[in-house]
Amino acid sequence: MANTRVAHFKPTASHVAIIMDGNGRWAVRRGMPRLAGHAKGVERVRDVIKACPDLNVSHLTLYAFSTENWKRSEDEVAGLMRLFRRYIKKESAKLVEAGVNLRFIGNRMRLDRDLQEMMAWVEELTSDNDKLYLTVALDYGGRDEIIRATRRVAAKVAAGELTESQIDEATLSAHMDTGGLPDPDLVLRTSGEVRVSNFLLWQAAYAEYNFLDICWPDFTAEVFADCIRNYNTRERRFGAAVG
Ligand code: IPE
Ligand code: IPE
Ligand code: MG
Repeated sequence: MANTRVAHFKPTASHVAIIMDGNGRWAVRRGMPRLAGHAKGVERVRDVIKACPDLNVSHLTLYAFSTENWKRSEDEVAGLMRLFRRYIKKESAKLVEAGVNLRFIGNRMRLDRDLQEMMAWVEELTSDNDKLYLTVALDYGGRDEIIRATRRVAAKVAAGELTESQIDEATLSAHMDTGGLPDPDLVLRTSGEVRVSNFLLWQAAYAEYNFLDICWPDFTAEVFADCIRNYNTRERRFGAAVG
């Protein structure tokens, strides 16, 4: 029987997704090149990953590069790709040690072949870990992901493996890049912008949002802990009546 009281639970944010925005502005305000802001942002990624276990965050999803970010200058795109390569090379051993299970979501076919290979390598290397499920969105766009998932489902229907009437929310979810992952509970965005910029459009349908006025390079473990505390004061109703 449906019990509305059950719907008003106050859960912990076990899956947090972050739109890490504001690196460029952080750097420019200090008279530094935009890439210096991105490099600083990588340090914050390290801190946030480290803070997850104490905050009971079991799943962390980070927006690193969108399908729209290809519009940036060649220099900035190349610099970001260098940072991704360096991150995988430098952090892989630490990720294993910390029990982090890393996977990427996005349309990786447009990335350089060597980077694609590094991504597959580190995914395989960390695939048995279960302390923290870290998902990095790279060349990721929510609409692009929905299109690719729809194509996968359509191919199965054409092959007779699935009927049209079997397609439901669970089917679509399973065919997303995030298949098997829980939906995010909390989506954070730094930089002061109040928009989702094509991030997890399907998965975050009922997430709680928190838009922060600071830039990503200023996002410390303390700020992260505050965000989790703030989430814990919220009441999630999922459409049920108040009371
Ligand atoms: C976010 O910071 C990082 C990426 C999009 C790769 P930005 O580079 O967007 O920083 P701002 O928004 O220009 O300050
Ligand atoms: C969103 O930030 C993408 C990432 C953080 C990777 P953008 O800076 O690219 O988004 P807009 O341009 O403000 O929408
Ligand atoms: Mg930005």
